[in-house]
Amino acid sequence: MKWKNKKVLVTGGASFIGSHLTEKLVILGAKVRVAENFSSGERNHLANIECETFEGDLLDPSFCSKATKGIEVLFHLAADHGGRGYIDSHQVECSTNMILDGQVFRHAHQNGVEKIIFASSGCVYPTSAQMDVGKEVFLYEDMVTPPYEADDLYGWAKLLAELTLKAYHQQHGISTASCRYFTVYGPRCTENHAVMAMIARGYLKLDPFEVWGDGEQIRNWTFVDDIVSGTISAAENICDGTAVNLGTMERIKVKECAKEVIDTLNPSASIKLLTDKPTGPLNRVASNELAKKLLGWSPRTKFLDGLQKTIDWYIDSKSTEQAKIDLAKKVVGR
Ligand SMILES: NC(=O)c1ccc[n+]([C@@H]2O[C@H](COP(=O)([O-])OP(=O)(O)OC[C@H]3O[C@@H](n4cnc5c(N)ncnc54)[C@H](O)[C@@H]3O)[C@@H](O)[C@H]2O)c1
Repeated sequence: MKWKNKKVLVTGGASFIGSHLTEKLVILGAKVRVAENFSSGERNHLANIECETFEGDLLDPSFCSKATKGIEVLFHLAADHGGRGYIDSHQVECSTNMILDGQVFRHAHQNGVEKIIFASSGCVYPTSAQMDVGKEVFLYEDMVTPPYEADDLYGWAKLLAELTLKAYHQQHGISTASCRYFTVYGPRCTENHAVMAMIARGYLKLDPFEVWGDGEQIRNWTFVDDIVSGTISAAENICDGTAVNLGTMERIKVKECAKEVIDTLNPSASIKLLTDKPTGPLNRVASNELAKKLLGWSPRTKFLDGLQKTIDWYIDSKSTEQAKIDLAKKVVGR
């Protein structure tokens, strides 16, 4: 696909991932429009990016129709979403994503959008396959199959959107693809995601250093630049609604991540485990074999390198006074 002058819409384009995607598409020469209600997206994320901004709520049909008009390629990232502390306790809010996604796809179809790429999630995978930390589990795309067992209403909404996009392709021939993102981190990410909460605690020299759960949880934290390159590659290579994992195969325990952050920012701190806090599935790591095969994609950033870049960004972009403000609220918010 040639991106030069391509008319692209990024919904949720002021978000953490959305702003990095918007930035890259502009560099590639696309004419990018962002549709945003700034409910969690931040205006300053777009400050230096040459894109058009449509401000409004995509749950409003007339705004949704206006935002999708004249667009060739749509990246749909807008969602009611946060970290584990948010999605577990805001099921009703997350359920609205079913309305949002259906409406965005419907208006995109009515307005003749040629291609839709959707920001899906590792939350579509059966939770029961992700509970044994003693196993070397890798999640393969074909494990998402009837009777289905998504993770909370947030995961069910992502799954329904994937299935909806497959149906749009089959019935109407629209080119569609879904990218299953796995625990993304990097510059501009907020403290409601575990890595960023840990960086904030280290930066503020909090002692004891709180860790949610027993620290044995396993994740494949994936750096945002890799997510952006995979998403663009999915737009270029998938048209039949296939969903593909975008995640590293590095298996990192939460306590290992905590130790790295402590060693870098506050070596004398001791860890306090908060076992009553939500952790989500205990063992969530993607296979990226399909992404290699279909997209020629594999992640380039090793966790320790990405973590260091993210720590550097956090320290450069916030004073300790700013990092301190409402930290307890931020870790469970959007
Ligand atoms: N961050 C992750 O680890 C991760 C993992 C899997 C999937 N995802 C998905 O990636 C996407 C981006 O997530 P993120 O973490 O960068 O930030 P995010 O969840 O804050 O992004 C959502 C964006 O959508 C906007 N938005 C929400 N509702 C809207 C509405 N009704 N109308 C217009 N705009 C609206 C918000 O202001 C925000 O900018 C989301 O769809 C999320 O579900 C993220």
